[in-house]
Amino acid sequence: MSADSTSANSTSENSTSTTGASTQSALTTSTSTTSSSQAPVLETRGLTKAFRGFTAVDNVNLSVQEGHIHALIGPNGAGKTTVFNLLTKFLPPTRGEILYRGKPITALKSNQIARLGLVRSFQISAVFAHMTALENVRVALQRQLGTSFHFWKSEKSLDHLNERALALLEEVGLREYADTLTVEMPYGRKRALEVATTLALDPVMMLLDEPTQGMGAEDVDRIVALIKRVSKGRTVLMVEHNLSVVSRLCDQITVLARGAVLAEGDYESVSRNPLVREAYMGSDAAEQERASA
Ligand SMILES: Nc1ncnc2c1ncn2[C@@H]1O[C@H](COP(=O)(O)OP(=O)(O)OP(=O)(O)O)[C@@H](O)[C@H]1O
Ligand SMILES: [Mg+2]
Repeated sequence: MSADSTSANSTSENSTSTTGASTQSALTTSTSTTSSSQAPVLETRGLTKAFRGFTAVDNVNLSVQEGHIHALIGPNGAGKTTVFNLLTKFLPPTRGEILYRGKPITALKSNQIARLGLVRSFQISAVFAHMTALENVRVALQRQLGTSFHFWKSEKSLDHLNERALALLEEVGLREYADTLTVEMPYGRKRALEVATTLALDPVMMLLDEPTQGMGAEDVDRIVALIKRVSKGRTVLMVEHNLSVVSRLCDQITVLARGAVLAEGDYESVSRNPLVREAYMGSDAAEQERASA
């Protein structure tokens, strides 16, 4: 498997949220990031999703370690987006369990897992085109503060909000875009702004859905550096088609094919795995490559 970029569009499904018994215990889980143990932050057990009898995600056991940047890769139609949608509660699973810090979150809803610190970027945290970059980050911060923030609060707390918003823009390299309307920002910068609005929610774990999709090389490099920077002290799970990005960023990779886990490991081991090469290239191409090696 070469580290060339490949591209494909993700399927966007209409979503339904899981309802049912709320696992209150999971909601009270600490969101501290200080644990140094090797316990998984996020885990799935036997996660399965069938659409009218077609199994898109098949008995997936995923284990994302604290502090890791973990990639979910695989050929088109492998089930990556569906796994993501299950993890972020856009879809209810047919079977299986999702655990966050050892506690079941299978029955929770999107907003509940976001409160636990599990935040999906690039789709959930879409930015408002006709607001400035600063206003967008402020809105995200206000959302995070929820009902504890009120407009009648003092000037001082508004100033504080501005300060924090500017600091977040600085963190993603957008300080000079503070007063620029989002619609006027270059595409790569908009994605960086989405990272800032995600950071405003103070995530323990960020779920990034194809963060470099549709970007030119320069923007890709900038986003790679940005993800590296903001992942410090956090855990990241990302779906990514660009294997060069995966090789540069990720500690652990799970390869999905036809809904099931095909291989797992670091980039080196996964990219040497014949099953993975075959899944990516098709068996004929892999055979030819073997013959000519
Ligand atoms: N809502 C749905 N209804 C029926 N089938 C679906 C639905 N969503 C996904 N699928 C099917 O499930 C399989 C996995 O799709 P998914 O979008 O998860 O793959 P992917 O790995 O994200 O692919 P890509 O790399 O193209 O984004 C595909 O065969 C797809 O057609
Ligand atoms: Mg997809």
